[in-house]
Amino acid sequence: MFITFEGIEGAGKSTAIASVADGLERRGRRVLLTQEPGGCALGKTLRTLLLDQKSVIASRAELFLFLADRAQHVAEVVRPALEQDIVVLCDRYADSTLAYQGYARGLDPAVLRQLSAEAAGGLVPDMTLLLDLPVEEGLARARRRNERLGTVSSEGRFDAESLAFHAKVRSGFLAIASEEPERVKIIDSSRPPAEVQAQCLRHLETLLQG
Ligand code: TYD
Repeated sequence: MFITFEGIEGAGKSTAIASVADGLERRGRRVLLTQEPGGCALGKTLRTLLLDQKSVIASRAELFLFLADRAQHVAEVVRPALEQDIVVLCDRYADSTLAYQGYARGLDPAVLRQLSAEAAGGLVPDMTLLLDLPVEEGLARARRRNERLGTVSSEGRFDAESLAFHAKVRSGFLAIASEEPERVKIIDSSRPPAEVQAQCLRHLETLLQG
């Protein structure tokens, strides 16, 4: 089973993924946590390039770097795990490409869908949990996290984007969720962590039973 987690910066994906993994392991499932970009060796190199504020990257070049990461990650990590009946929990996937490179950077969503499917060899998540919260709240959380981790001076290219950019990303994610309500479930991420975990597990329960 392939589950992806999406959301703006500071939406609480990492916390939600860790707690969902815990919940699934308690139910006896084998779980793999992974991420895009950076879920494989090639991806780690691409991630450094993509997030470094010193990188000068045109929108189309950025798109193809994310897609290269996806192609390698799916082939090397995700598919082999799924074949072993491991539940794969992935921090960001194709909806991030649509929201960031499409809705926010302005590349054509229809083209992105096609290219992204090509990179992923057609692999679509069984379920996507969209951690949703107001942009101001997400960015404030991300800022606090960067300060805590001491990464404030080197925060990434995306953290440095404007409020308007992140607002487009959020509305992009919400548009995808309304187009694909079967796959994409909206989680109210402004709730306390235990409640966010419960919301996620409730959705997954239906999938695990089905
Ligand atoms: P991530 O490290 O998950 O960011 P955060 O922890 O702040 O949520 O992801 C790195 C950045 O890459 C994030 O800002 C979103 C961006 N991204 C894209 O623009 N397109 C993509 O296809 C993916 C997977 C990520």
